[in-house]
Amino acid sequence: METLISLVNKIQRACTALGDHGEDNALPTLWESLPSIAVVGGQSSGKSSVLESIVGKDFLPRGAGIVTRRPLVLQLHKIDEGREYAEFMHLPRKKFTDFAAVRKEIADETDRETGRSKQISSVPIHLSIFSPNVVNLTLVDLPGLTKVAVEGQHESIVHDIENMVRSFIEKPNCIILAISPANQDLATSDAIKISREVDPRGERTFGVLTKIDLMDKGTDAVDILEGKSYKLQFPWIGVVNRSQADINKSVDMIAARRREREYFQTSPEYGHLASRMGSEHLGKLLSKHLEQVIKSRIPGLQSLISKTINELETELSRLGRPVATDAGGKLYMIMEICRSFDQIFKEHLDGTRSGGDK
Ligand code: GDP
Ligand code: NA
Ligand code: MG
Repeated sequence: METLISLVNKIQRACTALGDHGEDNALPTLWESLPSIAVVGGQSSGKSSVLESIVGKDFLPRGAGIVTRRPLVLQLHKIDEGREYAEFMHLPRKKFTDFAAVRKEIADETDRETGRSKQISSVPIHLSIFSPNVVNLTLVDLPGLTKVAVEGQHESIVHDIENMVRSFIEKPNCIILAISPANQDLATSDAIKISREVDPRGERTFGVLTKIDLMDKGTDAVDILEGKSYKLQFPWIGVVNRSQADINKSVDMIAARRREREYFQTSPEYGHLASRMGSEHLGKLLSKHLEQVIKSRIPGLQSLISKTINELETELSRLGRPVATDAGGKLYMIMEICRSFDQIFKEHLDGTRSGGDK
């Protein structure tokens, strides 16, 4: 299954690259049908922090106020060994090994599109991270939902953000991480509100409760985490991300993860839930879920892929061979990926058949 997810990642990358070159074929449809995971929630609820701890890497701009102002489409690629690095789609030939520089490039690229003001843009930034320490996933970081415009922002920003977020999470293939801070009343959670709107039965929404360490003394989130109040289809997951003070002191992710684990294990309230709390558990749960989703989509994806192969073959013969142009080369590459995808599907389906009903 690992290979299947990694192929999905490759295809998504190839489709986006091709989309940038204005080609017109079935690939955008294919892209739309592949699963991804998006974080939604109010401003400063901890969305970027949750993504960072899933990745186990410190690379996103975070902080108070509206920091994330463009969607960030983040593809994680597991590599067998070697040093981890990152690549932006808008800087194809540059390998980043310094993740502080990645963070700066996200901020700079945001400003290039929006100006230095606090405006937002729905044009995504595409970032890939290659690392031995990640699971293969596509994640989307989104600007936070807000209730009021701040100085320098147009009044329409509240609705603009909501519409942008909705356009990502309303796709049936989007798995939603609904982020709510534990130190605010869940009844007012923007994340829960908008997720219910697009996924009323909670079939693709995971509730994540952040800032458990910041709850008022004498209160706890046990009822929510045990599924007694605000029940969702999937169990709630509590996390403890780094605080702003930790970030300022550059507490690293490994230390933060260890501390998070200890927090739950030694907590009198949450000790009995420790094995299903924390960012590490969240990451594992998500990739397992993603595998199930992909498996269930295989028949549909398979027919889309063969349609795509047919279209690409037509396109290539129209271009004539040998194809020297960049576009032709890309088509070949995508077709190769589609073919191996097709092969994997066939093997998987054969495997299912010969294995009989389970
Ligand atoms: P976003 O706006 O939703 O992307 O939120 P950020 O990830 O940028 O986090 C906003 C602020 O809350 C940052 O200063 C984080 O350090 C802090 N924060 C996020 N999650 C937690 C948490 O679980 N515990 C604590 N103490 N602080 C957190
Ligand atoms: Na923020
Ligand atoms: Mg953010």
